[in-house]
Amino acid sequence: MSESKPARFITLEGIEGVGKSTNLEFASAFLKQNGIPHVVTREPGGTPMAEEIRELLLRPREEKVHDLTELLLIFAARAQHLHSFIVPHLRQGTWVLCDRFTDATFAYQGGGRELDMDTISQLENIVQGTLRPDRIIWLDAPVNLGMKRIAERKGAPDRFENERHRFFERVRNVYEARATAQPDHYRRIDASAPLEQVKEALEVELASLINS
Ligand code: TMP
Repeated sequence: MSESKPARFITLEGIEGVGKSTNLEFASAFLKQNGIPHVVTREPGGTPMAEEIRELLLRPREEKVHDLTELLLIFAARAQHLHSFIVPHLRQGTWVLCDRFTDATFAYQGGGRELDMDTISQLENIVQGTLRPDRIIWLDAPVNLGMKRIAERKGAPDRFENERHRFFERVRNVYEARATAQPDHYRRIDASAPLEQVKEALEVELASLINS
């Protein structure tokens, strides 16, 4: 069906607790129903080495992690993921559905940690060249809702989940600013709506990509 069309690179973004994992499963099932060959992956991570870097990044530790160390580790994992997994799949016509990508770096490291956005842009250009997601699906919900859902989860919080309300407000504000600045690439979905409604909105977006 889509064989002659280029494979799409789609990312899902949003603060913690907005339902990215559930919606990625919906998205994958929808692509499958429509006969679209695809892979589902995530950042940080997506290859064995990048998953090791993820572990380094998320594990709470006593040593203070310098913000620049965090940023460089994220881009190191991304370089590995991009060049050994994402790009080869796109080249062979396989769509890539990715749980977070560089928009998360602008939001979390630029917004949350208040690192310089230009530094992030420079690293983006070095690591990715001109490659950018075709569509960024931003699952948006108020920070209180996201934090409530995290609190209900089992297991110890990771290094990011330990951050406070203000941090996630800054993260959300960056997603909002980027969505406003890039209306052709971003699609905002209200993740505080009932799940069935979120799923429908997601399918509308995917259908438009399949048919375009
Ligand atoms: P998650 O993918 O399970 O939500 O967890 C990954 C965490 O890593 C999440 O808290 C956001 C954070 N993160 C960044 O801070 N910057 C990034 O560029 C990416 C991809 C993730």
